[in-house]
Amino acid sequence: MSASSSSVVDTTGWVYAGELAELDDDVPVTVDVDGDPVCLVRRGGGVRALLDICSHQDYPLSQGEVTGDSIECCVHGACFDLTTGAALSLPATEPVPVFPVQVREGKVYVTSPETG
Ligand code: FES
Repeated sequence: MSASSSSVVDTTGWVYAGELAELDDDVPVTVDVDGDPVCLVRRGGGVRALLDICSHQDYPLSQGEVTGDSIECCVHGACFDLTTGAALSLPATEPVPVFPVQVREGKVYVTSPETG
């Protein structure tokens, strides 16, 4: 699953990020959406999207593991809330940005945190 900086942006600013059917529950993947690395996590029929950069030392969160409602960075073990991006455990103390997500007709769209 991938989207590139040349991804289709619809008239309301939502960027196509891939197909829902290509995501497995609780298995994070990274996509490039308009130049931003975005970590997508499917949760049933919905999807969470966070900036794919750990706020501790910039490692990709998509390499981590989903446990419950959080994702754990595989480098030093900081956990982040999948819905809010809040840092739940040390060594991270800062949140990661969360991207609004829409699933329409089996397609996943994200938009920037500023415009969602
Ligand atoms: S780089 Fe993620 S916890 Fe350190």
